[in-house]
Amino acid sequence: MMSVEIYAQLHARFREEFGIREDVRVFFAPGRVNLIGEHTDYNGGYVFPAALTYGTWALAAPRQDGVYRFASVNFPGKTSCEASRIVYRAEDGWANYPKGVVHELTALPECAPLLKGADLLFFGNIPNGAGLSSSASVELAAAVAVTALAGIDMPMMELVKLAQRAENRFVGVRCGIMDQFAVGMGKKEHAIMLKCDTLTYEYVPFRIDGYKLVITNSNKRRSLTDSTYNERRRECEEGLSELQKRLPHLRSLGDLSGNEWRQVSTSLSNEVIRRRVEHVVAENERVIQAAQCLAAGDLHAFGRLMKASHESLRDLYEVTGGELDALFEAAAQADGCIGTRMTGAGFGGCTVSLVQADAVDAFKRQVAGRYTQATGLVPDFYVCELGDGAGEIVLPPSA
Ligand code: GLA
Repeated sequence: MMSVEIYAQLHARFREEFGIREDVRVFFAPGRVNLIGEHTDYNGGYVFPAALTYGTWALAAPRQDGVYRFASVNFPGKTSCEASRIVYRAEDGWANYPKGVVHELTALPECAPLLKGADLLFFGNIPNGAGLSSSASVELAAAVAVTALAGIDMPMMELVKLAQRAENRFVGVRCGIMDQFAVGMGKKEHAIMLKCDTLTYEYVPFRIDGYKLVITNSNKRRSLTDSTYNERRRECEEGLSELQKRLPHLRSLGDLSGNEWRQVSTSLSNEVIRRRVEHVVAENERVIQAAQCLAAGDLHAFGRLMKASHESLRDLYEVTGGELDALFEAAAQADGCIGTRMTGAGFGGCTVSLVQADAVDAFKRQVAGRYTQATGLVPDFYVCELGDGAGEIVLPPSA
């Protein structure tokens, strides 16, 4: 996690921003990586994400005047707002995420009177805009900190839904539940098999002996994310309502089996919509198979499913883009790599790869060489561990 020195530096920074306080508490929320199951969450399907040990720390101290103040080690400036009067302001940038969380809390009659204000300092070590859920990480760090200080005892599952509402309604991105769920509910050394309409889930031990999970940042900042993301959602909704004419029982694309789909696919006259649905149905089946492969220790089969997922996101769902495709090609050819794919929304961001532990250095060298040659960009590598979900960090007294 973090060294004692870094905690000391964060406390010093907190004092600089907000003055000397005796009652500063420390909270953490991870980022997430999605192993497989992309663009299935808002279709009520399966996803297979995991929490990382990278994430966002929040140092927080209570106030009594109903004011929330937010500062960040990563971004300049300070934002402050009264709990009872929070509005979205584009110029507040990242601070709209914690503001959105407090705003959603004020909408709950049992919580509103307890929101007495707080000072919060955030520090994150997840690359921003790289598809590793830095925003959900900030939201959950804020949610655990603000509720703990206010004495609000809310189950993590409720905080997860609240953070998603903050992003959907306050920030205006129609994201699914996957990111907030993985960030809130993650478990060390486990991936989470989640069905996104019922929120039924299972922790699957992430046993990859002899292999490493390597995240590679394309360093192509995600572009067009929100508009294209919302457009894909609309396309799926259109596909669903067309299909419901033939299959009235169908509640979501995530409930459509491959067999059923093959029988009705020609009823979708729009070729683009047909490709989108094709991806969702096949990706959903891949998630189920991938979880089984992992449980059975068949990592090569898991890796093949990862590659098939990327190809489907590239050819059918069309959310990869030149840089992620170049990174995928470079990784797929590299020594010791048995599986690789884009992770997150797409349009830039990261890939995730399964690489033989003793080939990681060669993998990095070869991927960087080929990727830079193809795009002119220099990638970053993170050999990662899977960590726990959001919560308070209780430090030893000396820290
Ligand atoms: C983003 C969204 C998630 C999910 C993924 C794509 O990360 O926040 O809800 O839709 O894209 O799988």
